[in-house]
Amino acid sequence: MKNINVIYYTLSGNTESFARKLTDEPFDIKDVNKTNQPYVLLTPTYKFGQVPDIVSEWLEDNHANMIGVVSFGNRNWGSEFFGKAGDIISEMYNVPLVRKVELRGTEEDVAYITEFIHGY
Ligand SMILES: Cc1cc2nc3c(=O)[nH]c(=O)nc-3n(C[C@H](O)[C@H](O)[C@H](O)COP(=O)(O)O)c2cc1C
Repeated sequence: MKNINVIYYTLSGNTESFARKLTDEPFDIKDVNKTNQPYVLLTPTYKFGQVPDIVSEWLEDNHANMIGVVSFGNRNWGSEFFGKAGDIISEMYNVPLVRKVELRGTEEDVAYITEFIHGY
């Protein structure tokens, strides 16, 4: 993997579990104060299609080096809300929504996102 970090937020562990399939050394957003390195953001969607508050606040200071966002969710929430955090962040900061991943994702999801990072 190039010098591109994987930074994630997780509440119940699904997004962290996925992040660990992309790299041996993903960073928990809570441990990152400021980053000067390019990174891909992984975030779940909560509360009817919203970006978690911690992620929103962190991005205010740290969005400049984000090269893409991967959102997580559950299709049970319906197509309007599924993974919507990614749509919101992509639009707000003008970065690609790389993929929406359901729960802990599939091998195909891992391959797709790895490809994006390598191709960057
Ligand atoms: C209270 C609650 C609200 C949720 N709201 C949404 C939602 O609006 N859209 C969605 O796609 N998934 C929603 N989910 C599903 C989570 O995004 C999904 O379980 C995700 O994998 C959680 O990631 P985490 O384990 O890293 O915290 C919700 C889950 C809970 C418990």
